[in-house]
Amino acid sequence: ARHFALIPAAGVGARLGGAIPKQYMPLAGKPMLQYALDTFAGNAAIAHTFIVVSAADGYIGDFLATQPQLADKVTVVRHGGETRQESVRNGLLAIRAHIADNDWVLVHDAARPGLNDALLDRLIAALHDDDVGGLLALPIVDTLKRSNASRVLETVPRNGLWAAQTPQMFRYALLQRALDAAQLQGRVGDITDDASAVEMLGLQPKLVEGSPRNFKVTLAHDVALAELFLQGQE
Ligand code: CTP
Ligand code: MG
Repeated sequence: ARHFALIPAAGVGARLGGAIPKQYMPLAGKPMLQYALDTFAGNAAIAHTFIVVSAADGYIGDFLATQPQLADKVTVVRHGGETRQESVRNGLLAIRAHIADNDWVLVHDAARPGLNDALLDRLIAALHDDDVGGLLALPIVDTLKRSNASRVLETVPRNGLWAAQTPQMFRYALLQRALDAAQLQGRVGDITDDASAVEMLGLQPKLVEGSPRNFKVTLAHDVALAELFLQGQE
């Protein structure tokens, strides 16, 4: 089976609140999106990378024009959806002709520039003979409180709790079936990652240890931390 990367990059970055969508924002000298693209394009296990952007995206053409080395490794799908899950579903549909049912798809947020070769290799190696697939994730280190308004209802034991990261890696047909089922059941609003759709089929994705550097750039204060990691200080 081959490995394909699928990068949902059709968001607007509302919480970051920048002048342009965050995936195009410069981080330590390069547009955020370039980090993940360089990692996938430079990894011999990845056959090809697909990026899903919104139909109205006015940045991707200019960006790729500056990256001729990516020309034969990256294809743009101009069919973003209202939500991340819709963008992923649209992307899966658009690449159907290029991919076999049992090929692997690694879905990765454009907003996680800290993915590197070592993490990617770790995920692929951990899942190579897996029946279900899985994801990078990090054990929770904080003490967790469940609230009722602003009062503590209970402390949630963090034992066995992980924070999900991406890539999330599943066989093409399984992931498509999982996202279709979630859509049909009207449960798309309940899911914020790909693995949870697979879990709704009753399957148990494997957890593979990720890294703090692979965090999602979401809020304005995340930018400085991302730049620190990307400048090589781990
Ligand atoms: N994404 C997408 N299509 C959407 C929404 C999000 O492809 N309709 C992508 C984003 O571009 C990002 C990833 O999903 O790479 C994770 O989403 P998030 O961090 O929430 O990014 P945004 O939706 O852009 O940010 P915000 O929610 O703050 O607007
Ligand atoms: Mg979002």
